[in-house]
Amino acid sequence: MSTDVATEIGDLTVPQHVAIIMDGNGRWARQRMRPRTMGHAAGLEVLREIIRAGLELNIGFLTFFGFSTENWNRPADEVSFLIDLLRRYLQREVVKLHEQGVRLRFIGNRDRFDDDIRALLVNAEQLTRQNTALNVTIALSYGGREEIVSAARRLAEAAVRGDIAVDEIDETRFEAALFTASLPAPDLLIRTSGEKRLSNFLLWQTAYTEFVFTDVLWPDFSAEHLQQAVAEFGSRDRRFGGIIG
Ligand code: FPP
Repeated sequence: MSTDVATEIGDLTVPQHVAIIMDGNGRWARQRMRPRTMGHAAGLEVLREIIRAGLELNIGFLTFFGFSTENWNRPADEVSFLIDLLRRYLQREVVKLHEQGVRLRFIGNRDRFDDDIRALLVNAEQLTRQNTALNVTIALSYGGREEIVSAARRLAEAAVRGDIAVDEIDETRFEAALFTASLPAPDLLIRTSGEKRLSNFLLWQTAYTEFVFTDVLWPDFSAEHLQQAVAEFGSRDRRFGGIIG
């Protein structure tokens, strides 16, 4: 991961990398006395809108928590709805995102997905790999602890094989063994719906990330809310463990 960078656009200090926990779909649907799945469908529309806004704001990297390792424990019909939504999204949107210059990446454990989804993920990454307008990463079947354990295992295997010495294992090597090896650390993390926790998202990567929590439920989140969070980020004093300058 490179160092964190923020650029000035107009009056806004725009973070280079924004990570988002899209929470509150179920509550949004319940408020309307509709099934939870309707909340997820509405949430997907907002994901589209926020990608558009990211392009306009010139944010370099947007990373979304789409599906956690724990989400597999939800009722089977909700899980299969989310997988179907993902399938249709990949089938329909990837070409459009490619045309807009979006590079897509997926992080997480792909083993539990069907072959067709895995193929769609690879296809999306391959097709868009040269794009530079906006880097969109979607975490799917992702868990931060699992990611850290698997990085530790890969390094241990490399050490046992004799490819690296144990004392060569440092933060740089460790980061290179994470799913996010090619991404900078998030500057800003936004969580919607009033919950104020990380829920196993990007545990390593958020060491110096600024957090913005909003009560807005994800299906009600908009480009203006993103701008507000970015403005709040701009007012924060980031010291990375140093002292006031
Ligand atoms: C959290 O709301 C949201 C999720 C578990 C799924 C996020 C998915 C989307 C925004 C749409 C689809 C995106 C992809 C990539 C397929 P919740 O269900 O936990 O809401 P609640 O806390 O109110 O119950």
